[in-house]
Amino acid sequence: MCGIVGYTGPREAYPIVLKGLKRLEYRGYDSSGVALLNNKQIKVYKKKGKVAELEEAAIGQDIHANIGIGHTRWATHGEPSDRNAHPHQSQSGELAMIHNGIIENYTQIKKELESKGYHFKSDTDTEVLLNFIEDIKINNNCSLEEALRIALKRVVGAYCILLIAKDEPETIIAARKGSPLVIGIGKGEHFLASDASPIIEYTKEVVYVNDYEIAIVKPDELILKNLGNEKQTPFITKLDMELAAIEKGGYDHFMLKEIHEQPSTIHDCLRGRLLPQSLQIMMGGIENNMEAFINANRIMIVACGTSWHAGLIAEYLIEEFCRIPVEVEYASEFRYRNPVIHRGDVIIAISQSGETADTLVALESAKEKGAFIFGVVNAVGSSIARLSHAGAYTHSGPEIGVASTKAFTGQLAVLMMMALKIGYAKGTLSKDRYAQLMHDLELIPEKIKEILADTSNIQRIAEKYKDAADFLFLGRGYNFPVALEGALKLKEISYIHAEGYPAAEMKHGPIALVDENLPVVFVATKDSYYEKIVSNVQEIKARKGKVLAVATAGDEVIPGMADDVMFVPDADEAIAPLLSVVPLQLLSYYVGLYKGLDVDKPRNLAKSVTVE
Ligand code: F6R
Repeated sequence: MCGIVGYTGPREAYPIVLKGLKRLEYRGYDSSGVALLNNKQIKVYKKKGKVAELEEAAIGQDIHANIGIGHTRWATHGEPSDRNAHPHQSQSGELAMIHNGIIENYTQIKKELESKGYHFKSDTDTEVLLNFIEDIKINNNCSLEEALRIALKRVVGAYCILLIAKDEPETIIAARKGSPLVIGIGKGEHFLASDASPIIEYTKEVVYVNDYEIAIVKPDELILKNLGNEKQTPFITKLDMELAAIEKGGYDHFMLKEIHEQPSTIHDCLRGRLLPQSLQIMMGGIENNMEAFINANRIMIVACGTSWHAGLIAEYLIEEFCRIPVEVEYASEFRYRNPVIHRGDVIIAISQSGETADTLVALESAKEKGAFIFGVVNAVGSSIARLSHAGAYTHSGPEIGVASTKAFTGQLAVLMMMALKIGYAKGTLSKDRYAQLMHDLELIPEKIKEILADTSNIQRIAEKYKDAADFLFLGRGYNFPVALEGALKLKEISYIHAEGYPAAEMKHGPIALVDENLPVVFVATKDSYYEKIVSNVQEIKARKGKVLAVATAGDEVIPGMADDVMFVPDADEAIAPLLSVVPLQLLSYYVGLYKGLDVDKPRNLAKSVTVE
């Protein structure tokens, strides 16, 4: 949610910052801009729309500078426009700043500044914070760093800011609370960004800045301090990521690439952990905390969006195999309703980005109340990963497409292994079933390959239904959350209204929607609910609804009733969501594609939602 980039060093800053913005565009694409500092002059170029439009607007402009900051925006305060685009300049023009986050008490600060004669050119909280810093600097006759420190002590909210000043020709000052910041260490140069993707091609040595830290970054010096002005030792981490992982690799879109990567990402997730021959699942985070899981009175799962859907599937898994009650919570609701949390409660946090503000804040308060936090996270070194007491990475690699696909199946693979491991250790899962499920899980990457080998049928179905106004997605048991996920994917990518529902709930209301124009997608693989879902399909057909079904290869009943069928290989019902979700990901992708939409950057969305 807003991407920020900075560079200071001997190279031309603009191309580095621009390329970095393109890599971070998945975080927001309402507007973008750069500020370049050269010869004690700050030049700002900014434009509503995607980074390509900024690039176009900067052609022929003076872009020579060795220090620069850039921003790609997901609008919070103020509509997407040139005026509200970052960077913002202070009233005197001496400072320029970019910001990712929300300053919650900005209206109060704005009033104070207005009474002192400040005028604002934008509607943003960022411009208010910047002028607040400038005002403190002037009134206290202090350094910019000191002014920033004083300002941040008054600020309520979340931020990652980068600040440059005309009279500090080599320095970027950065600060973070709640929004991520990574600093890449080069030879006589430094790179700053919201995540490592703009940095990876220049250096693999990075420092993840912590909350309440200020970084003073010069070409050959990085100083970290806390808000009390005490120096902190930067902890240098080596990035374990290759450039190819963040490029499209011949695919038209990141979303399609990421769907097709799933056989290998799931394989990577299982590798070294799932050992069916020796009947072992190696997960250090679980192993070291087995008592906490086995003795838990309940497990709470906290997540948002697609990760929340993975949490719903985990609820079925954990309750069935471990016999521990599970509650699955939307992080945003969990945090604000003052939940009852007891010492010894186990919380599983699920997040691709590891930076989702709602999840992060929910966990912070649960941790304070004594809960044990286990993170299922994709982004290595992210805030949620660091806040968790223990965890397991999904190892899905960087997910760039805004709609989550491979991260979801990575989360499912981790959660399945967790449920199997805990259930077996607790004695609530029999050895035979444990062995059989491990074997089934190991086969999943090959089975996904089978689905992906020929997508022409799904493309045909997408073309046929792309102009529908609404869709209903139905499933039962383990496939109910898959139906929810199918509906969410379609909404995001194609802007078609879609609802996911438990198939049996349909008759309690949504069935009123059914007519010959409503496509109803059934996730109807062979499982213990199969006979029931066959009846539900008949109920829809009797009302002339169009039935699209995800069915198990070899099934002859569902294909006899449905208008269109997408087959998946057979699998145990607890594992089946790893397969049944794949045709739904592809369906959304192709519907969006055939509607001529930007599937990697759907309107109004951003990956990594770092505002509450
Ligand atoms: C949907 C999607 C979002 C995210 C949600 C949580 O395709 O990507 O619904 O799942 O914003 O994000 P993470 O998993 O990063 O916490």
